[in-house]
Amino acid sequence: MKIREEFLPYCRPCYGAAELDGMADAIRSGWWSRGPKVAAFEQAFAERVGARHALALNSCTAGLFLGLKLYDLQPGDQVITTPLTFCATANVIVHNGATPVFADVDPVTGLIDPAQIEQKITPKTKGVLPVHYAGRACDMDAINALADKHGLFVLEDAAHAVYTTYANGNWVGNTRNTVAFSFYATKNLAVGEGGMLTTNNAALFERAQRLSLHGMSRDAWKRFSAAGSWRYDVVEAGYKYNMTDPAAALGLAQLDRLETMQQRRLAIANAYNAAFADLPGITPLPSGPFGRNAWHLYMLLVDPARCGFTRDQLIEQLHDVYRVGTSVHYMPVHLHPFYRQTFGTRPGDCPHAEALFAQMVSLPLYPSMTEEDVTYVCEAVRAVAARFAA
Ligand SMILES: Cc1ncc(COP(=O)(O)O)c(C=O)c1O
Repeated sequence: MKIREEFLPYCRPCYGAAELDGMADAIRSGWWSRGPKVAAFEQAFAERVGARHALALNSCTAGLFLGLKLYDLQPGDQVITTPLTFCATANVIVHNGATPVFADVDPVTGLIDPAQIEQKITPKTKGVLPVHYAGRACDMDAINALADKHGLFVLEDAAHAVYTTYANGNWVGNTRNTVAFSFYATKNLAVGEGGMLTTNNAALFERAQRLSLHGMSRDAWKRFSAAGSWRYDVVEAGYKYNMTDPAAALGLAQLDRLETMQQRRLAIANAYNAAFADLPGITPLPSGPFGRNAWHLYMLLVDPARCGFTRDQLIEQLHDVYRVGTSVHYMPVHLHPFYRQTFGTRPGDCPHAEALFAQMVSLPLYPSMTEEDVTYVCEAVRAVAARFAA
């Protein structure tokens, strides 16, 4: 096959005139911090996912941090989460003064296993922080049932799950739980840096809103508008986590484009599935079992015993020979030095997550990939397989 000259990056944003016009409009309006576009984005997002309240923030990490802050965790309290996630999920537990406890994932799906969660529950457990990993929903019926049985809160990490549905067909966000979404540059709906916290609970929402802007009394952001006043009260020591209007302008345009972008993601995933179906020892991470997959990631699991090469060799060959970027989602959090040194976690704690980690590679999957890009990635993976088979 002919090697491409231009490197194919692992990810690239997808945008058009609406994003450019929306940004320009936000800049011209003079609202450069939180303003009317943020309010419009919150309303549109809440309506789209079916949540009563939505709070736009400058990241999902901020949303997860605030989502935990609402439960006033104390030192010694434990929050159970998955090891197969981005470090932010566990870091926010630490930032809240609590201890992250890692419950292993299902060996096939990589989603946190409710049976493993139950085994980790102690009198110190206060909540569960599941992650809708790669764009597929966790078994929320089982997790919510555990929460009810043991009196725990549930905060859902939906960084990968804009467009994901639960088993009951509702969009992630349309739930009794608080949910944090990411609009980071690589996400299905991207604004660069941004996030959204959704909830149906008015009291939790009001507190999150206040905490996101210094702990100032309600609608403090309006103080520079005709409707506002200079006067505000600080009722608790809050943070500075609000979204800006230029970011919200991108978000509104991306939300309009979401269905089209998702159809493209699905088409690329289908093309990959078809192209790799007959390759021994290379299997895609399963799409199910719960609800609609938002296809945030397309992950292959490479079994060296069956295909004759390792995950690292595939990454190297794709990068060095074929000029294709890939990624790994993720090194299990309990293996990172900070967690090992601080909480005594170690290899062997979560064998299913560790086994998946050893085999996983994420291929480029984004709506702005051309047909040629997709065909090229298929051919490149097949060429690596053929080379090692020979
Ligand atoms: C699973 C998961 N949780 C949380 C985050 C944090 O999102 P953000 O970068 O918007 O803070 C990410 C970001 O990559 C993520 O993948």
